[in-house]
Amino acid sequence: MSTLKNDLLLKALRGETVERPPVWMMRQAGRYLPDYQKLKQKYSFFERCQNPELATEITIQPVEQVGVDAAIIFSDILVVPQAMGMEVQMIEGKGPLLPDPIKQYNDIDKLRIPDVNDTLGYVFDALALTKKTLAGRVPLIGFAGAPWTLLCYMVQGKGSKTFDEARAFCFTQPATAHRLLQMLTDTTIAYLKGQAKAGADVVQVFDSWGGLLSPKDFEEFSLQYIRQIITALKTVCPTIIFAKGAWFALEEMAATGTSGLGVDWCIKPGMARSFAGKNTTLQGNFDPARLLGPVSSIKSAVKEMIDAFGTHRYIANLGHGILPNVPVDHARAFVDAVKEYSLVAR
Ligand code: CP3
Repeated sequence: MSTLKNDLLLKALRGETVERPPVWMMRQAGRYLPDYQKLKQKYSFFERCQNPELATEITIQPVEQVGVDAAIIFSDILVVPQAMGMEVQMIEGKGPLLPDPIKQYNDIDKLRIPDVNDTLGYVFDALALTKKTLAGRVPLIGFAGAPWTLLCYMVQGKGSKTFDEARAFCFTQPATAHRLLQMLTDTTIAYLKGQAKAGADVVQVFDSWGGLLSPKDFEEFSLQYIRQIITALKTVCPTIIFAKGAWFALEEMAATGTSGLGVDWCIKPGMARSFAGKNTTLQGNFDPARLLGPVSSIKSAVKEMIDAFGTHRYIANLGHGILPNVPVDHARAFVDAVKEYSLVAR
C-alpha cells in the first residue's frame, strides 16, 4: 500500500490536529470541467462509468485541475439498482430514467441481491486503477446511495423535487418498502466493503432525499438501514453520512459511530456541532450557488464558514453537489480560500 502524501482528510476524520482543514467538493468529478465535457461527447454516461481508464481519468481531473485534497470515484448511486436488475437510463439534460419502476410487492421478485464482484466489479477495477494512478497524492473516496434515496428513484422512476410517489409507497405498502430497503442495504454493505478492498480510503453514503421525511419516518425508512451500513463498515474504513436536509437527525446519525457527517447550508455550524457532538467530524456546508458569485465574495464566505466551524474535526466542502455551470476558476477560488485559511488565521 502506498503511503499518502496528503492525508489531511483521513486525519480530520480521525479527529487529529491538522495544519488546515481538508477540502473537496461533492460531485467534483465531471459536470463543470471542460475536459469532462469532451469525454462526454465521445462516450455515454454508463460507458464512462464502466470503463476503468475513463473513470480514472475523470476522477483525477479535479485533483489536478482544481487542487482538491481528495478524489471521489467517478460512478453513480444508480449503478446499485442497475446491478440488482433494474433498467436505468441517463437522459441528457433530464437525468435518470427507470422505465419499469417498482409499484408493488411482486415487482421486487424481479430484483436480486447480486454478487457485487460480478455486477459491480468494474467499479472495483476503476478504484484500483485510480488508486494506483493517484500514487498517494490524495485519499480516494468511494460512495453509495443510501437505501432510502435509491428507493426514491426505483419507485418514482425519475428525479423529483418531492418524491411523492416514493413517500406514498412507503406509507401505503410498508412491508414492500422494507423488503426493498433491506435488499438495498445488504447489497450496499457488500458493495462498500468491496470498494474499501479495492482501494477506497473512505466511503460516503449519499442520502440526498433524507430531508423529505419527517424525523420519525426518517428513522423508519432511512436511518435504520444507514445504521446497518455504518455498523458493517466502520471497522473497515472511515465513513461519512451525508443526509441532505436531515439536520434533525444529526445526533442519531453521530450515534451510529460514523467518522463524519455532511451538512447542508440550511443549518448554522454551531447548531450542527451541538447536535453532532465533539467526536464526529463535520463536512460542508457552502451553498453551491454561491460559487456563481464573484471570487472576492467566495473567498470571504469561505473564511466565514471556517471561522464558524473551526478547524478541528472539520472538512470544508459544499452543502450539496457543485452546479454544472460553475466556472472552473470559481471552484478553484473555493479550494484556494480553504488552503489559504491557515495563513490568514495564524
Ligand atoms: O464527484 C462526482 O461527481 C462523482 C460521481 C458522482 C455522480 N453522481 C456522477 C454523475 C456522484 C458522487 C453521484 C452521486 C449521485 N447521483 C447522487 C447523490 C448526490 C447528489 O447530488 O444528491 C444522486 C442523487 C445521483 C443520481 C443522478 N445521477 C442524477 C439526479 C443525475 C442527473 C443530474 C445530475 O446530477 O447531473 C445523475 C447523472 C450524473 N451522475 C452526472 C454525473 C457527472 C451527469 C450526467 C453526465 O455527466 O452525463
